[in-house]
Amino acid sequence: MKYGRIVGWGKCAPAKILTNFDLEKMVDTTDEWIRARTGIRQRHVASDGETTATMSAAAGRAALAQAGLEPKELDLIIVATSSPDYLVPAASSQVQDLLGAKCGAFQLGAGCTGFVYGLATAQAFISTGVHKNILVVGAETISRNVNWKDRETCVLFGDGAGAVIVQACDEPTGVLSFVLGSDGSGAEHLGVNIGAHAVMTPAALERGDHYLHMNGREVFKFATRVMGQAALEVINRAGMSLADIDLLIPHQANLRIIELAARHLNLPMDKVLVNIQNYGNTSAASIPIALVEAVEAGRIKEGDTLCLVGFGAGLTWAAAVVRWGVSERPFAMSSMFAPVRRVRDRAGVTLRMAQSQVAMQTLGARRALQKGTARAVEAVKSKASLALLPLYTRLDKRYTRNKRE
Ligand code: ACO
Repeated sequence: MKYGRIVGWGKCAPAKILTNFDLEKMVDTTDEWIRARTGIRQRHVASDGETTATMSAAAGRAALAQAGLEPKELDLIIVATSSPDYLVPAASSQVQDLLGAKCGAFQLGAGCTGFVYGLATAQAFISTGVHKNILVVGAETISRNVNWKDRETCVLFGDGAGAVIVQACDEPTGVLSFVLGSDGSGAEHLGVNIGAHAVMTPAALERGDHYLHMNGREVFKFATRVMGQAALEVINRAGMSLADIDLLIPHQANLRIIELAARHLNLPMDKVLVNIQNYGNTSAASIPIALVEAVEAGRIKEGDTLCLVGFGAGLTWAAAVVRWGVSERPFAMSSMFAPVRRVRDRAGVTLRMAQSQVAMQTLGARRALQKGTARAVEAVKSKASLALLPLYTRLDKRYTRNKRE
């Protein structure tokens, strides 16, 4: 079976930034409320001309450059989004054209979970040997479907795109396991009502049906339940335990949800990636943007094991265990034996510490012994000379007397 290692990555965040203080001027909210209830400080918002397709292409170009690949070497493009430029055609074909790629392309809709669904799909294509190089993008321009007068939703979201290149290889790296879930009975809690069942009429526009609507409390409850469960399940499927995970990259929807999930998993926060403060919730783009930031910041190293976990509209959830490995050559063995190496290294350090402690104690003991022996010899000498003193004195007197006689 072929594995799909991640050999390229890139992101795109619009230059325009909207801070909580900017939002204070737009709706009845405060920076304090937004930070305390969500962890968000700012979000990026697309300007005119910036769309899901253009941001996807920018992130895709960066990922191709990182991988050292030409667009024509791509075999497939998957774009996960809930905010495509149009209902038809799919954003994926725009991205293929913008990149100048010559391959199949499709769009994938699974809410905020879309990128992980896309990664799992790429892995499936690669494991069967059908494709070699696949571009997976998570991208959103949610700002276009947000009601900027609704404080309960507009403070939460941001725009952006993140992309990776998944490449076939023989080493056990890339996506090692995945879990995909869906519970459509919760559809009403989060959505944008445009489509065959909700045709855009002037009345619908008037009602604001095209705006994103959300039952925040229900989504919150669902998210806190499903994140930990999905993470444990996918780790279990990879034949691993939580201790094997170097970094958890969760969907960035709310800092409180992330912290609760980490607490349920008993995972320290330094093993959890959080960047929601800078981006808000970028839906399908949130996990790839976080992944790219983590790589760029040096938080992910060759051989590390990551757990990506997301939830979103649908309702859906998805998780993947990913072993990070870019270079095929040394990584092949080193990644496989990374846990063994870590244990060996730790054991080596412990052994060296024990050895040096013993050496120091031995040296100390020897010195003490030497000192003790020297002292003992001195004592014996002085005792002996004391004991012999009367004899010497007597002998000395006799000698002197004899000499005189
Ligand atoms: N500023 C000030 N007050 C606000 C704001 C705001 N922006 N928004 C809501 N409030 C008020 C409410 O009106 C409410 O007032 P009330 O008590 O007088 O009725 C009060 O704050 C508390 O509201 P809650 O909804 O209980 O606040 P909560 O602590 O649940 O936080 C939030 C709301 C942040 C939306 C939270 O429920 C949440 O994060 N839910 C999950 C959302 C999510 O993850 N969505 C995306 C998932 S899928 C995807 O990414 C597409």
